[in-house]
Formats: sequence, C-alpha cells, structure tokens
Amino acid sequence: MVNREEVLSVLSKVVDPELGRDVVSLGMVQDIEVEREKVTLTLNLTTPACPLRERLEKETRDAVYSLKGVKEVAIKVSSKVFSTRNDSQDLLPGVKNIVAVASGKGGVGKSTIAVNLACSLSLAGAKVGLLDSDIYGPNIPKMMGIDHELRTENGMIVPATAYNVKVMSIGFIYKGETPLIWRGPLISGAVKQMLGQVNWGELDYLIIDLPPGTGDVPLTVAQNVPLGGVVVVTTPQEAAVSIAAKSVSMFRRLGIPIVGIVENMSYFVCRKCGEKTYPFSSGGGREMAARLNENFLGDVPISEGIREGCDSGRPVVVFSPNTHEATALKEISFRVAGVMSILAYSKMAF
Ligand SMILES: Nc1ncnc2c1ncn2[C@@H]1O[C@H](COP(=O)(O)OP(=O)(O)OP(=O)(O)O)[C@@H](O)[C@H]1O
Ligand SMILES: [Mg+2]
Repeated sequence: MVNREEVLSVLSKVVDPELGRDVVSLGMVQDIEVEREKVTLTLNLTTPACPLRERLEKETRDAVYSLKGVKEVAIKVSSKVFSTRNDSQDLLPGVKNIVAVASGKGGVGKSTIAVNLACSLSLAGAKVGLLDSDIYGPNIPKMMGIDHELRTENGMIVPATAYNVKVMSIGFIYKGETPLIWRGPLISGAVKQMLGQVNWGELDYLIIDLPPGTGDVPLTVAQNVPLGGVVVVTTPQEAAVSIAAKSVSMFRRLGIPIVGIVENMSYFVCRKCGEKTYPFSSGGGREMAARLNENFLGDVPISEGIREGCDSGRPVVVFSPNTHEATALKEISFRVAGVMSILAYSKMAF
C-alpha cells in the first residue's frame, strides 16, 4: 500500500504551468487518504474558473496512478480564489479581486463583455459583483434584466441580485430618460458611494464596467479603487485600436496591471451559408496586444444572440451557453480568472 508521502512526492512534480510552481508547494493538494489500492484527494484550485482545470486534474490523476499498487484515484476538485489585494484600504474589505473593464472608445462592447464576464465567473462557482460605473449611460440594469428598488440595511445600500451576481448601478436611482447633468466632483462622489456604501459582502471578483474614455469616472476609479487589473476591450478596426491603446497607457501610468485585451465584434458568421466576414476588419486587438506586450484574452464574434441577450436582459452565457459566441465569452472569462490568479500569486510571499 502506498503512503501519503509517496503521493505528495509524485505530485510535487505536477506543475501549474501558469504559476510555474508545483501543486504541492502551492498548497493545492489536500485531504489525501489512502485505503488499500485507492487514493482520494482534494485538488484546491486558485479559482473555480480555472482555465487549466482539466489539465491539472489529469496530470494529478496520472501522477498518482504512476505509483505502484494504486488501482483507483478519486479527485475532488474545489477552489479557493487567490486575492490580488494587499492594500490596507478599508474600501471593499471582503472583495478579493477588483477588475475593471475599460476601453478608449464608446460602443465597443465593454458593458456586454462585463455582463458576460460576471455571469460566466458566477456560473463557474465564484462569488461575483458587477458595478455599473457609467453615470451618464447606465445600461447594466437592462442588460442584466433588473428593475430594482434601492433599499438600505444597517445604513448600507443593498445591491440587486441577478443570475447570482450582485449588481449596483446609478440606473437604480435615476430611472427614466432624464439625463444626469453632473460634473466631475459629483460623479466621483457617486462612484465612491457605489463602492463604499454598498454592502458587497464577500466577493471573489468585483467587475467594474467603466464608461468610455479616459475622463472623470475611469480616473476616479483608477485612483481611488484598489484595482487588481483592467480588461481592455476593442473592436478590430484601427480607429478603435488606437484609442484603446491610449486607455492601456493611462492605466499603466497609474500602475494598474493590464489583465489583457479582448477583441469584440471580430467577425461575423453567416447563419445561412457559414461564410465568415470581417465587417470591422480583423486582428486589430490581437496585434495591439502583441505590440504592447499584453495578454490577448480572445475574440468575440458579432452575433445576434449577444445583442438580443443584452437587449432582453438574458445574457448569452446564461441562456445559450452552448453557442459558439457564449463559448468564446466563457473562455475569455476563464483567461481573466487565470491571469488574476497569476497577478495574485506574484504578490504573495511563500
Ligand atoms: N459581439 C457583439 N455582437 C453583437 N452585438 C454586440 C456585440 N457586442 C456588443 N454588441 C451590441 O453593441 C451595442 C454596444 O455594446 P455595449 O453597450 O456593450 O458597448 P459599450 O462599449 O459598453 O458602450 P458605451 O461606450 O456606451 O458604454 C449593444 O447594443 C450591444 O448589444
Ligand atoms: Mg457601456
């Protein structure tokens, strides 16, 4: 019969390729039990949305099977999300990772990506919040299908919940079509309130959907919120890419890590003939990521399903999870979670 030490010894050769360290010293292997020819263990991943989940599970299983005398291996996969926080701020103390979704240009799909990112991480099993920081054009309530009446509890605002995601938006306060005509300080105040006076509770990921550009709100968020990273969205054409690059440059200057670049509206596949066309050119986001030496997180097609999902408050990753476009969005969300784990790991002292 093998013993615990032998199991740990073979598993210390299974390396998480992203973190460059073995699963034993990362503390991922727990609850090893050996019962005659059967080994049971828990593999505790750094996020439930782990892009390497299947690979790590297989390598762990194969390693244990390589021990002489082992006939059965049972692995329970669980997760404990790493935190990118090492600030001492009182703001959002229960939130492990704060991720902003930004872009220089308007209308490239930031809110669409933010909504599907939040829902996808939540579906994977993470605790997720979504803050709509677009004061002038809050559209997250519509995209998440929420009509929420704000209320407070113990002096804190209670966020809405949809698809297991906690949501806050200025749209819950100012409804209808009357435009807000606020200037800088008021806007900054509102954003700070939605962060600090909302009971977000314990979250693995808080996604902040930013308005376009490098104006008041993105700056307020970047300077006042302990952001773990920023996802930059662009469409492929030169006009969008060059402005998105400015956004990257702003966040870099403020010392905020760029999680990576998403290329939205990359291509269109005709439903009738299957022909793939490129209405907004192609590859601009991928090229931008390579040029700026940032991660490319993936591309998302132009799809009726995505647009309909946004308009009807039924995000495509929740309601049509097996479509090509939902798969693309889910893969991006797993890459985001993977990069956040790497960023968290780089801050940890082992
Ligand atoms: N991949 C896509 N396929 C089809 N429609 C999309 C796609 N991405 C976004 N859209 C649609 O494009 C419009 C703009 O998207 P969205 O509101 O997400 O952009 P945004 O960058 O957040 O805009 P703003 O700058 O105004 O905040 C929406 O109607 C949305 O449904
Ligand atoms: Mg938006």
